[in-house]
This record gives sequence, structure tokens and C-alpha cells, in this order.
Amino acid sequence: MKREIIDTGDGSKSINIPEWKEQYHSKHGALQEALHVFIEMGLKDTLSRKQDPKETISIIEYGLGTGLNAMLTAQFLTDTPIHYTGVDAYPVTYEEAMAVNYGELLKDETLYKKLHSCEWEQPVKLTSNFTIEKLEKKFKNLDDIATYDVIYYDCFGPRVQPDLWKLDMFQAAYASLKPEGVLVTYCAQGQARRNMIEAGFTVEKLVGPPGKREMLRARKL
Ligand SMILES: C[S@@+](CC[C@H](N)C(=O)[O-])C[C@H]1O[C@@H](n2cnc3c(N)ncnc32)[C@H](O)[C@@H]1O
Repeated sequence: MKREIIDTGDGSKSINIPEWKEQYHSKHGALQEALHVFIEMGLKDTLSRKQDPKETISIIEYGLGTGLNAMLTAQFLTDTPIHYTGVDAYPVTYEEAMAVNYGELLKDETLYKKLHSCEWEQPVKLTSNFTIEKLEKKFKNLDDIATYDVIYYDCFGPRVQPDLWKLDMFQAAYASLKPEGVLVTYCAQGQARRNMIEAGFTVEKLVGPPGKREMLRARKL
């Protein structure tokens, strides 16, 4: 499918799929959405609840895409080691990643280039406390059990990929989380929320990023 680079409302770039009229990030602002949904409500929430700050936290992203969430997580100032699994069955090209240019936006082009040029299917240490493992596979083939503290659920929306918001997806996501683990997503669709609850999650509706009323945080209690 054709992909094109677009500008979003906060000045950061994203990718649009014209055939679907679907973007990789909020049209209101890619950067502000990523900071709010994934960093503020996912990463910071989890770090604040950690008993031992030296114990590694394990994050999985459904939809590595441009690497914006991975980049912001790698740059987040913490002493806690982070293991980041970025899954994507249809990775962006290096050229597309350079065209959205989050390295320039986030003032670390070296880190952004390393993120996109490092090997897939193996852990690679990008900073003193951030290790990434990029996996080129379909979400439906993930079968980890009690492995992750946080899931960044950043799939395309239910309008274009309804299967990714169904009960079986959230059952697998639930199983892959450690106790107390959380799943965060920009999506606040009622059916997706009900599927999360049926899968066992306790779900909170939170204020969304600018331009979006709500988002969801689902907890494995
Ligand atoms: C909304 S975009 C992710 C945006 C990304 N988090 C970012 O910051 O750029 C959704 C991603 O899911 C990937 N994807 C779509 N269907 C998939 C599937 N069935 N399995 C794995 N990856 C899939 C796409 O290639 C795309 O990169």
C-alpha cells in the first residue's frame, strides 16, 4: 500500500495511507500524542509504581512503525533499564524513517539512525539502559506469557483493522503481561474497551491527547 509523509498539527511529521485515509499518528499532533498516551500514561505510570528502580522493565510495542514511541522511550531519563520489543510485520523503510526525521525533531539523529539501522530479530543495546529487539512478525503470532510490564498498543484503528481490536488479540495481550502490567492505547472505542474487559483487564478511560477526548489504559490486576 502506498505511504506518504504528512505534517501533523503540532509540526511533527507522520505517515498517511491514502487508500485507507489512516495515519500512523494523530493528525492533531504525532509528537504530542506519543508523549501523552505512551510516555505519560504508560511508561511514567509504570516507573512510578516500580518497587525496585534497578529492575528492568519490559515494554512491547504493537506497531513499531516510524519508531517515534521507541525513540521517546529511549530518551526518557531514568536509571531503570528498559527492554523494548518493537513488533511490525510491514516495517517502514529507512528512507521513510529519515523523511519523518524524528532524529532531528528529538535532537538525537545518531540514536534515531541506530534505531532504524540496527539488526532485527535480536536484542541491540542502543544506550546505557535501553535495549531494543525489533521483530518482523504479525501480532497474531505473538505468544509470550507474563513477559511484559507495558504494552504500547499502537495498531491502526478499528475502522481499518477491526481484527486487531477483537477479544482474541486482547486475550493474548493479557496473557503476555506480568501481574500489574498495563496496556495503553490512543483508541477509546466502546467495543474495543468491552473486549479488553472480557479478556480480563480493568480498564480506565483517561483524558486523551490534544484533539482526542479519551484514551484507554487497561490493567492486569
Ligand atoms: C499506527 S502504525 C504504528 C505507528 C508507530 N507506533 C509509530 O510511532 O510510527 C501501525 C503499525 O502496525 C503495523 N501492522 C499493521 N498490521 C500488522 C499486523 N497484522 N501485524 C504486525 N504489524 C502490523 C503497520 O506496519 C504499522 O507500522
